[in-house]
Amino acid sequence: MTLSLTTAAPDLGGLETPLLVVVLASAPTLTDELRAVDTITDGALARALGRRDFRGGRDETLHLSGGESGAQRVLLVGMGPAADRTAALRRASAIAGRQANRLGVGRLAFFAGALSAEDVEAVGLGLIAGSWDFKELKTPPPAEEERAPLTEVTILAADTAAAQRGVRAASAIGEGHSLARRLGMLPGNVCTPEYLADTARDIARRFGMKVTVLGRAEMQQEKMGSFLSVAQGTSQDPKLIALEYTKGPAGAQPIAIVGKGLCFDSGGISIKPAQGMEWMKFDMCGAAGVLGAMEAIARLELPINVVGLIGSTTNMPSGEAFKPGDVVQASNGKYIEIINTDAEGRLVLADVLVYAKRFSPSAVIDAATLTGAAVIALGHTATGVMGNDDTLVQEVLDAGKRSGEPGWPLPLWDDYKELIKSDVADIKNSGGRPAGTITAALFLKEFAEGYPWVHLDIAGTAYTETDLGTVPRGPTGVPVGTFVEFARGRAR
Ligand code: BES
Ligand code: MN
Ligand code: ZN
Repeated sequence: MTLSLTTAAPDLGGLETPLLVVVLASAPTLTDELRAVDTITDGALARALGRRDFRGGRDETLHLSGGESGAQRVLLVGMGPAADRTAALRRASAIAGRQANRLGVGRLAFFAGALSAEDVEAVGLGLIAGSWDFKELKTPPPAEEERAPLTEVTILAADTAAAQRGVRAASAIGEGHSLARRLGMLPGNVCTPEYLADTARDIARRFGMKVTVLGRAEMQQEKMGSFLSVAQGTSQDPKLIALEYTKGPAGAQPIAIVGKGLCFDSGGISIKPAQGMEWMKFDMCGAAGVLGAMEAIARLELPINVVGLIGSTTNMPSGEAFKPGDVVQASNGKYIEIINTDAEGRLVLADVLVYAKRFSPSAVIDAATLTGAAVIALGHTATGVMGNDDTLVQEVLDAGKRSGEPGWPLPLWDDYKELIKSDVADIKNSGGRPAGTITAALFLKEFAEGYPWVHLDIAGTAYTETDLGTVPRGPTGVPVGTFVEFARGRAR
């Protein structure tokens, strides 16, 4: 379901809407522009503020009943002290979008005072994120019990070209977010490597991109023994997917975004505990982020060349599966000793990172739900950021910050390499528990050769196991925003 966003002049008095959302910062007062809202609510707004029932705190909401006509309901949403106004607006808008779905009003008008183009974009993104819902695999309730999903929003802001730019950007990026979240939510028996390949083919067809899909046979020809070892235990054909967006200057080096696409990670022979194993359908959120970002970048028509790369398979135990002690050879010739078949993401990405080099990228950013250790180090708040080029690391951190997907750097020091030295091969695929996020990234670094590279460990940030208020249990949309902001930064 796509949300249609429009802007209109903020004439609160003449407004006709089932729901008026009013976003306010801390310690709100009844300003002149809010008097019209107070009139609609028969003075309830002034009373709520006067009695301090509503104080504009972060995530605070208050419902006021509106008129028979005009604004029929009013929802106040707080922004808190709003040190970062864009982020606060996005968050308040997400809460409003979610609340609109709960009410079943179908459409709303949104007011938050004066809004810049960036503000409008943040509001649009918040509303799209908040009203996003996954209902495909549930039988719909009988019509009389159905609540209309939010489909139409009017953002009340001086209806300028800037506001319309904001709306267009939000719609484009929101579409990317929603695609990534939908793919994440789809179960492993539906969202298979073939399904991701079909999604990439669909994006390629709609936007005139080139798409290449390598299966098991093609990867054997490329000698991708590392990736293929993970795919040994499944009859599903593994897929290496490359999408090429070429709206940049002809001949200009592309940026490459790379995603881990484990449609399910059972751990393989080093099998995971049963408790919570179902969450491992989300082990393809990096790949979903690549597809979502390609969708958004194409809709934004960014003047930049971008290659989207995905390594997708399913990690399963079987009589044919790879096993601890095996030694495999990646496509750059390096020998890898398998210590733990559950450290499979790095094995898949190794060959994809080697493959990335043939595009002569100016920068490569990979995103992967790579290590449980990232959740221990940074929780669900920040993405782990590491790379072989400090300038690029900073550029990616900045892009993450702008998009509301904060990252935090971890040191990629050679000292940690001791942990992944092998007795029989060039490197081993697990260094055990200490510095697990760093050793995983150091492993990748051995294959990210010949270009500036940054790795995002999104294990803690790509999906949430608890309701976050703005986001229900499931995929968050990370890393779509980081990828898109990075591309936008480079396209400027
Ligand atoms: N997909 C997991 C990492 C993961 C864990 C993502 C929790 C999201 C939440 C990855 O393939 C994995 O299993 N990593 C192992 C590595 C270990 C065996 C060195 C881990 O983190 O335990
Ligand atoms: Mn694993
Ligand atoms: Zn995994």
